Amino acid sequence: MAHHHHDGGHRAGHHHHDHTDIDWSEMAPHLEAQAELFTPLYEHAMAWLAKRQTEPGLIVDVGSGPGVVACLLADTFPGARIVAVDGSAPLLERARARAE
Ligand SMILES: C[S@@+](CC[C@H](N)C(=O)[O-])C[C@H]1O[C@@H](n2cnc3c(N)ncnc32)[C@H](O)[C@@H]1O
Repeated sequence: MAHHHHDGGHRAGHHHHDHTDIDWSEMAPHLEAQAELFTPLYEHAMAWLAKRQTEPGLIVDVGSGPGVVACLLADTFPGARIVAVDGSAPLLERARARAE
């Protein structure tokens, strides 16, 4: 929070990507391990969704990180185009490798 001033006039001009200054790319191994740990839960949720959702044509995963969830979505909805979006290029590179 070092850069966030509660002076009321700072917000409009502030240029940070978020309020926390987290370096997401350095968290790649952690993000992957956590998403893999929770994969059974995500698969359960997606199976629930697939029963209620007609086959989607496009799924956009905003804040995809290394793409673990995006790849599970691709498995669950094989007819859909999955677009992974993230502010961190290194994480998107991992998502690309995982998708391949
Ligand atoms: C907690 S991680 C979640 C990653 C992934 N969805 C998962 O469940 O494993 C949040 C992700 O959002 C991305 N992110 C945060 N703020 C963003 C922004 N303003 N624009 C694009 N991506 C952003 C980060 O780079 C990071 O990969």
